[in-house]
Amino acid sequence: MPAFERHVFVCTNTREPGHPRGCCSAKQSGLIREQLKAEIERRGLKRKVRINQAGCLDQCEHGVTIVVYPEGVWYGFVKPEDVPDIVEQHLVGGRPVERLRLPDGCVNTERCPHRGGGVTLGINLPR
Ligand code: FES
Repeated sequence: MPAFERHVFVCTNTREPGHPRGCCSAKQSGLIREQLKAEIERRGLKRKVRINQAGCLDQCEHGVTIVVYPEGVWYGFVKPEDVPDIVEQHLVGGRPVERLRLPDGCVNTERCPHRGGGVTLGINLPR
């Protein structure tokens, strides 16, 4: 069997209500994962694209968080209605969905404005 061309990791981590960082499962990440799986199957892409359930990707303030490899494209604030664009544009067409991408200044940095530290950086916040 040939290797998968892409892995899509969807954070489905759950935290207790009121946690300061929030969690992706409270923002419908389970539904988003199921939608992605269904759409990949419907298009006959199951042997090329693998939809994976992930634990916390440490981008909690940006949830629902998804990362696509091998490109390393990070998506944030993903909602169920965004699934068709992710599948059609990125997973089929090879073009990341720019409106859903997290800015570099948001990924893996304490200075991210969503963590309360980047307001002075002038970063344009997605959604
Ligand atoms: S809970 Fe989803 S990235 Fe941390």
